[in-house]
Formats: sequence, C-alpha cells, structure tokens
Amino acid sequence: MKPMTTDNNAPTIRVAGVTKHRGTQAVLRDVSFEVPQGQIVAVLGPSGAGKSTLLRCINHLETIDGGKIFVQGQLIGYREQGDVLVELPDAEISLQRRRIGMVFQQFNLFRHVTVIENVMAGPMHVLGQSRTQATALALDLLARVGLAEKADAYPNQLSGGQQQRVAIARALALKPSVMLLDEPTSALDPELSQEVIAAIRQLATDGITLMIATHEMALARDFAERVLFMVNGELVEDRPARAFFDAPQHERARQFLARHGD
Ligand SMILES: Nc1ncnc2c1ncn2[C@@H]1O[C@H](COP(=O)(O)OP(=O)(O)OP(=O)(O)O)[C@@H](O)[C@H]1O
Ligand SMILES: [Mg+2]
Repeated sequence: MKPMTTDNNAPTIRVAGVTKHRGTQAVLRDVSFEVPQGQIVAVLGPSGAGKSTLLRCINHLETIDGGKIFVQGQLIGYREQGDVLVELPDAEISLQRRRIGMVFQQFNLFRHVTVIENVMAGPMHVLGQSRTQATALALDLLARVGLAEKADAYPNQLSGGQQQRVAIARALALKPSVMLLDEPTSALDPELSQEVIAAIRQLATDGITLMIATHEMALARDFAERVLFMVNGELVEDRPARAFFDAPQHERARQFLARHGD
C-alpha cells in the first residue's frame, strides 16, 4: 500500500524535528514549526544561524538528516519506507518544487533573453502553456511588480531592484502556494529595496504563504506577521512579529535587534 503523504487540512508548511549537519557541524538542530496558509513569516538571526539552509531544505535544495518537512501536507524530498526516508527521484522533486517559489539574494535571471522571456520560460516549459498563454500571464505578472514597460528589455538593462522584481515575477509564474525569499533585498541599495519590498507586499495581499530570511529589520517590521529567530541552527524564538519586536525574549535576539534596529 502506498503510504499516505498528503492531507488537505494540513498547515501549508510543517517542519517537524528537522536536523541537518555539514560535516560535524549541526546547522539545523531539531527545528519545528508550522505555517498556516497565507501567513508571512520573517526568519531572522545572526549570520550563520541557518536561515538560508532552512529555506533551502523546505525546497529540498538540500537534504536533511532527521525530521520531516511537509508542504500542503506532502512530504518534501522523500518517501517513507517503513521507518526510513528514501530520497525521491529528481523528477518527483521537480514536481514538488512547482508549488514552492524561491527568490535568492542574487537574482539569477537568464541573461541572454528578455525580461518577458524570463517570466514565460517556466509556464511554457514546466506547465506546458502555449506562447500566447504564457505571454498574457507574464505581462500580468510584470504589471504586478510594476515592470510592464520593461518586458522587452534585457536583464543587464535593468537596475538591481528591477531585476529582483523580475525574479519575483518569474517565481510567481509557476503559481506557487509558497514563496521562499532569501535576503531578497540585501544586494540592493535602500531605495531599490523599497521597490522590491513594495512588490513583496503585493504578493502578501494575494494569500501566498511567504517565508523571508532577511537582515533588514525594515522589511521584517513592515509586514511580517510572525518572526522565527534562529541562533546556531536552533529556533530560539517563534512569536508574533509585534511581540518579538516590542520585547524579544532571547538574549541573542535582544542583541540582534540592538544592532540591526532602526
Ligand atoms: N556550502 C556550504 N558548505 C559548508 N558549510 C556551509 C555552506 N553553506 C553554509 N554553511 C554553514 O552552515 C551554517 C548555516 O549557514 P546558512 O547559510 O544557512 O546561515 P544564514 O543564517 O543564512 O547566514 P547569513 O545570514 O550569513 O546568510 C553556517 O555555519 C555556514 O558556515
Ligand atoms: Mg543566508
């Protein structure tokens, strides 16, 4: 019998007792949390805390050593065989990733094609949409991130903030239910990051579940509903954003806010 790996009433993201090592170093230590649909979560913590690793594990860009990760009730990256987890074949992992958009600090656009072609690639090659359908979708998404007029430009003709907005539109083109953003504004100067923050805020109104790793407290304060604060691979605070910013409990969180506060 096939093990049951989907459950429609489940939280959108469930991370249950996840551990991960790199060599002898524990980079995720028994991390557990659940994110309901549509919640906006900021992942904060000092450099090296494991924020990027956590986001990459949710998308199975990295393997885990223990625990389980579910997105919309589906076990990510593995299937259960008795008590052990067996890694899924690449094709199945690719299917799972369609529901999980990811945007990195370095917007990895395809350099040799136009902005609109960047956004159309996923819908055409992954979702099998026609060129006409994909064009309409891409124009709509570019309008949503304020870049309709740049559709025919090449990435190197855009500012960093504009390129990052294209990267967001491209991730959205696969209609993910979850978006993971890893330092989406940290390669940008403050003015350009405002543009990107505005584009992310737009996503937040659409009911997409968002997890954002960031060092920018302005971004986190602006619209995160909840903060996960990590130190040395451990999730040490998990609280509503307002409560976290008003009165962080953990000593490292207090230090962190004193250093990064505005
Ligand atoms: N490719 C890698 N090879 C070896 N160790 C790595 C690699 N990437 C990250 N690490 C280590 O894993 C730990 C967690 O790193 P991670 O990148 O997840 O931290 P982070 O919280 O995202 O930090 P930052 O705020 O600097 O982005 C760190 O100790 C880091 O040195
Ligand atoms: Mg990181």
